[in-house]
Amino acid sequence: MSSAAKQSHAFDLAQVRKEFPILDQQVHGKPLVFLDSAASSQKPRAVIDAMAEFQRRDYANIHRGVYQLSQRATNAFEAARERVRGFLGAAETREIIFTRGTTEAINLVAATFGRERVGPGDEVLITHMEHHSNIVPWQMLCREKGATLRVVPIDDRGVLDLEALDDLLGARTRILAVTHVSNALGTVNPIAEIVAMAHAKGVPVLVDGAQAAPHMAIDVQELGCDFYAFSSHKVFGPSGVGALYGRAEHLEAMPPYQGGGEMILSVTFDETIYADIPHKFEAGTPDITGVVGLGAALAWVEATGLDAIAEHEHALLAYGTEALSEVAGLRLIGTAPHKAGVLSFVLDSAHAHDIGTILDQEGVAVRTGHHCAQPVMDRFSVPATARASLAAYNDRSDIDALVRALHSVNEMFA
Ligand code: ALA
Repeated sequence: MSSAAKQSHAFDLAQVRKEFPILDQQVHGKPLVFLDSAASSQKPRAVIDAMAEFQRRDYANIHRGVYQLSQRATNAFEAARERVRGFLGAAETREIIFTRGTTEAINLVAATFGRERVGPGDEVLITHMEHHSNIVPWQMLCREKGATLRVVPIDDRGVLDLEALDDLLGARTRILAVTHVSNALGTVNPIAEIVAMAHAKGVPVLVDGAQAAPHMAIDVQELGCDFYAFSSHKVFGPSGVGALYGRAEHLEAMPPYQGGGEMILSVTFDETIYADIPHKFEAGTPDITGVVGLGAALAWVEATGLDAIAEHEHALLAYGTEALSEVAGLRLIGTAPHKAGVLSFVLDSAHAHDIGTILDQEGVAVRTGHHCAQPVMDRFSVPATARASLAAYNDRSDIDALVRALHSVNEMFA
């Protein structure tokens, strides 16, 4: 188990809310009710302060200077890498690559591992509940290679069809890319089981963990996956930063993603010798302060306790599911038995975008639209949904405010 998972904490919700200064404000004269954390979560004071302090005191470029400031910055950067390793339960720190986020991590794997592995007539397997960032890079790869993208279906609750998945894992399948938690439906996929099915047929697995990382303890060794990607900004850290876990044997065999400074041992005009992993995949000056912020965010999560966060959110999701069932004409999109963090819905009375605008007038922030998951919308025959998404800092009063505002929508369009 990762260290975040092992600890058990008392969850003090009032204290947690106080640690997010942005929540203490009014919009349109109403207290802010923030229910859009699946798009991006808010930042605790610990993250804001760590980044400011780093910029004020320790900032310099990393891995380059012999002077003290550069070494302090390098130490802070590498300490964040070790923090990510612990957060994901990876065996080795060199298995952690910093990226711009989940999207870049998936593109990195498709453009290196994927490009070497997939050829004409081969297949890449994804699922019907993927975010565009776990569809388009594979589609691009398949187009380039003359390969075929295959899609595992989901049922009317938004549950993955595991029998179909097993059937689709065929002799030509070169990689399976699957989300841990669906951003549009909230479905939690049984990743360990899926990985075991894929590995039994020799198929490596990439997991999109963007929506799982803020909600549950992750242990890549227990999951058994080959790659795991997540974004800092959804797990209380800054945007523009994320991480990719890859098994060392894959990373060592993979060609670099981008060429440039930092990813080399030596360069002549005739030949370049690449640096060891993880640096081989980190060309150019990274978002140094962002990485430090990500480290602070994971430290905050660890101190708060992912087990406690998960328990709190699970109870809140159950409360919200029940409360929304009392809103006339509301249909939940995504009713899987195992869900995390997301209440996606449509209303008979109003289009999702109108719902979003009216909720905003009541101080309630939700996301409306296709959530970068258009195939999910097609599957449920809706153009868009309104999505309330939860984080550690939400409480029942946020759900109550959402429900009150939805009654107003119904009255307005009655
Ligand atoms: N992928 C993010 C979301 O679900 C942006 O809103």
